[in-house]
Amino acid sequence: MQLRQALKTGLKTLVESGVPSPELAAELLLMHVLGRDRGYLYAYPEAEISEEITRRYFQSVAERATGKPTQYITGHQEFWGLDLEVTPDVLIPRPETEHVVEAVIDLARRQGFDRETPLRIVDVGTGSGCIALALAAEFPRAILFATDISRPALDVASRNAARLGMAERVKFLERDLLAFFLDARAPGQGFNQGPDESFLSAFDFVVSNPPYVARGELDKVQREVREFEPQLAWGGLERGDEIYRRLIPQARAALKPGGWLIVEIGYNMGDAVAALLGDGWADIGVQPDLAGIPRVISARKGSLIGTRNEDHA
Ligand SMILES: C[S@@+](CC[C@H](N)C(=O)[O-])C[C@H]1O[C@@H](n2cnc3c(N)ncnc32)[C@H](O)[C@@H]1O
Repeated sequence: MQLRQALKTGLKTLVESGVPSPELAAELLLMHVLGRDRGYLYAYPEAEISEEITRRYFQSVAERATGKPTQYITGHQEFWGLDLEVTPDVLIPRPETEHVVEAVIDLARRQGFDRETPLRIVDVGTGSGCIALALAAEFPRAILFATDISRPALDVASRNAARLGMAERVKFLERDLLAFFLDARAPGQGFNQGPDESFLSAFDFVVSNPPYVARGELDKVQREVREFEPQLAWGGLERGDEIYRRLIPQARAALKPGGWLIVEIGYNMGDAVAALLGDGWADIGVQPDLAGIPRVISARKGSLIGTRNEDHA
């Protein structure tokens, strides 16, 4: 079959199934089975494709027609210019999450840090590892930790780190939020190692894109997400803000004085999450995404005495 004909037939199936952005999906799936880039599709529309490739193409189109996201079929998603492996065990990294990375770079610069600064950063709920690995790429001398409670997700993240040559620099931990670092401070607990214990949890940045979808908002979540992405990753929580409620005090304990917490938030959570940052936080900022939706909240660890935007602990 000619490449052009395969694309046209695949596109028809995807349109009939109501798949969003069907042209893009048809092209990505064909590029994947051919192992070629988009330029090839446009340059050689009359190329004959083998029976085996044609069969694999229509099989992947049929999978996409069931609602399975393209990235779980191709096994790849780009994030911050990095090619990441994704499987149904991890959330597919979203472009809006890149704003978390941008916020870290911006705040680091404003404090006079540069690429060579050995920043200490922890990514909570790392999933595919996307945020931690993007930051490892931006700050080659940074020391990075990344936590998740999903072992299968951490396996994917570790493979991504290894493929990108960053396995030595990012330490993945199967632990709840920041428990690993806070337990380390309690006398007699696992990683309480004398003089090193403060070093273990003195972070410049705590970053996170936590699960935040409340059960009552399930109807606002795309079918693809609900049916194919891990619920542990996107939410299905009673209220939606549970993880922020637990993470904010933990982050305060784990940050250095003046360190920053940077979290992604749901489209309507700006005020609610900002309100959770009570005493002890300063310079609270909400950054919108490209669509103008509040997407990232940043806050600096301040002293417990003083007003929110004035203390500079
Ligand atoms: C919204 S996903 C974000 C994944 C990735 N950081 C990204 O931005 O694509 C949230 C991640 O948090 C993890 N998670 C959920 N509850 C957690 C907890 N209590 N402690 C640590 N990680 C958790 C999930 O397994 C999932 O990988």
